[in-house]
Amino acid sequence: MFLRVEAMRILVVGGAGYIGSHMVKRLARDGHEVVVLDNLSTGHREAARFGEMVEGDLGDSALLDRLLGQRPFAAVMHFGAYSQVGESSQEPAAYYRNNAAYTLNLLDAMRAHAVHLLVFSSTAAVFGEPTYIPIDESHPLHPLNPYGRSKRMVEEILADYEQAYGLHWAALRYFNAAGADPEGDLGEQHEPETHLIPIVLQVASGRRSELQVFGDDYDTPDGTCIRDYVHVTDLCDAHALALDYLCSGRPSRAWNLGTEAGFSVREVVDAARRVTGREIPLRMMPRRPGDPARLVADSAAARRDLGWRPQFPDLETMISHAWRWECRIRDGDLPLAKGVPAR
Ligand code: UFG
Repeated sequence: MFLRVEAMRILVVGGAGYIGSHMVKRLARDGHEVVVLDNLSTGHREAARFGEMVEGDLGDSALLDRLLGQRPFAAVMHFGAYSQVGESSQEPAAYYRNNAAYTLNLLDAMRAHAVHLLVFSSTAAVFGEPTYIPIDESHPLHPLNPYGRSKRMVEEILADYEQAYGLHWAALRYFNAAGADPEGDLGEQHEPETHLIPIVLQVASGRRSELQVFGDDYDTPDGTCIRDYVHVTDLCDAHALALDYLCSGRPSRAWNLGTEAGFSVREVVDAARRVTGREIPLRMMPRRPGDPARLVADSAAARRDLGWRPQFPDLETMISHAWRWECRIRDGDLPLAKGVPAR
């Protein structure tokens, strides 16, 4: 859709985490020089192995100044954030500091060193409880928790920085990131894990005894919550396209990224049973606070503006890539960590 950008030096903040590490591999494959900045609070050093790793924190302004001053960077991709909705209500200070205040440090270092392009990881959590489905970019932003609010704050800051300082930005609002590197090199590995698909697969692999289903009395056809799962490789494609878009000088904006299909918790479990051939016992539990019944994206704007087309929109494909990764974790066959026990 656009002229492909030339090889660039790109700083990937949070490049040792789940989505960031897949992006580092992708950018390196595209011929870019990738420098990762990650404090390894939730990421894994080995996951960043496709780029050059700098261990450090966005709270360290002097480090940012040195890093951006040493060599010219053409762009920054910022994945470095705390991302657990429940935890954010218990530890709002950590979320506002790490996700919002420290992002200001990054933006100010970019400003000081004339780095004008930013692709920012935002989230569907900026919307809160939807008033209509599918959710397009015009949907009001009423986040329900400090995590979503910290991301909305950054989106607002980006708009002001563009106005005042000429920052060009793309905010990509992920719906439910899922899957793993199709080549099997990378995957999701949170500690503790809270996301549905990896937990379902830990049950399938025998690392966990059952799946707790958080609520089966929602106003949905089978009573469980509906989400829009989007393959991590497709999220990386969107970042690469957003970078091309910004390089072509087009206006900054936010895009919603999902496959535009909703699957309930029970449908995810059924798909995982088909993929793995395992039983996957369930235990019904009360609702988890703050879970909207349905979140499904309208991604027409990303298709139109970026030419984004998910390569792996099929839920079973996402689960089968994640399953291969889970089997590697279970078997201790990983560069990231040896046979990590599930919690
Ligand atoms: N679920 C269970 N049991 C589990 C884990 C999850 O029933 O053990 C259910 C949840 O209640 C929810 C669905 O599975 O209904 C999906 O839950 P996830 O935790 O996998 O994902 P969320 O939709 O809660 O959160 C994701 C991202 C957040 C982002 C949010 C946008 O992980 O970062 O989407 O609303 F903010």
